[in-house]
Amino acid sequence: MTITKCLFPVAGYGTRFLPATKSMPKEMLPIVNKPLVQYGVEEAIEAGMTTCAMVTGRGKRAIADHFDISYELEHQISGSGKEARLESIRSVLDKGVFTMVRQREMKGLGHAILTGQSLIGNEPFGVLLSDDLCINDGPGVLAQMAELFNQFRCSIVAIQEVPPEEVNKYGVIAGESLKDGIYRVDEMVEKPDPADAPSNLAIIGRYILTPDIFDIIRETRPGANGEIQLTDALQTQARRGCVMAYKFKGRRFDCGSVPGFVEATNYVYEHFYEED
Ligand code: G1P
Repeated sequence: MTITKCLFPVAGYGTRFLPATKSMPKEMLPIVNKPLVQYGVEEAIEAGMTTCAMVTGRGKRAIADHFDISYELEHQISGSGKEARLESIRSVLDKGVFTMVRQREMKGLGHAILTGQSLIGNEPFGVLLSDDLCINDGPGVLAQMAELFNQFRCSIVAIQEVPPEEVNKYGVIAGESLKDGIYRVDEMVEKPDPADAPSNLAIIGRYILTPDIFDIIRETRPGANGEIQLTDALQTQARRGCVMAYKFKGRRFDCGSVPGFVEATNYVYEHFYEED
């Protein structure tokens, strides 16, 4: 079974990057010369998820414009040496379809996912949080997870070991290790106190979700920070059926924080940037 849709919750305010994000979506901040969200879209498309469903909000029009043609720009630089600089976005536009819905109120990641239901329908789908930039040789994280989905046919979360004192920034899982790097989840907690955390296996912003998650989110009460948490809905799903956790191959940068963003910038500059 091929998963063809990926949901991008991109309505957040990006307060950690103020004032840069006052009138610009945080997802449009560039890592070197490419906006953060484009890295995510490229990862989804590589995994076969060519419908990119964006849950946007007010002040996020630049994202919709980025995934559309700019006739003026095309006209201006057509035939010039600068054309190569449009190559990556042209390729994304050739392969991808972009659908959008606005989340009118920020009530948490679970609420954002539920807002995207009309763009997804009744099929399994990917979720990519563009704050988490993942880089590796070989297939990207979503492609790795899509392959795993065909084995297990249930929701999958990407995980990574984090220092125990940092678990309160994440959703944290505990479960039975089935084979190298794959766990059947039996407990999930959103932003636990380090003293109460079930492990140091933190959820990173990549998910494959089965569509029953929508009804579960509808019944999920607000949790950590008074928000409707995807982690809580997944915990219900884990109890009712199965949720897997997968230690992905690759390196992840937390671009939702200034130090992580700078680290990613330096890494991409050193490893991928080519002066033209
Ligand atoms: C969200 C999720 C959390 C996950 C994290 C990964 O939290 O709620 O479970 O660990 O993304 O980046 P946020 O970073 O939006 O607070």
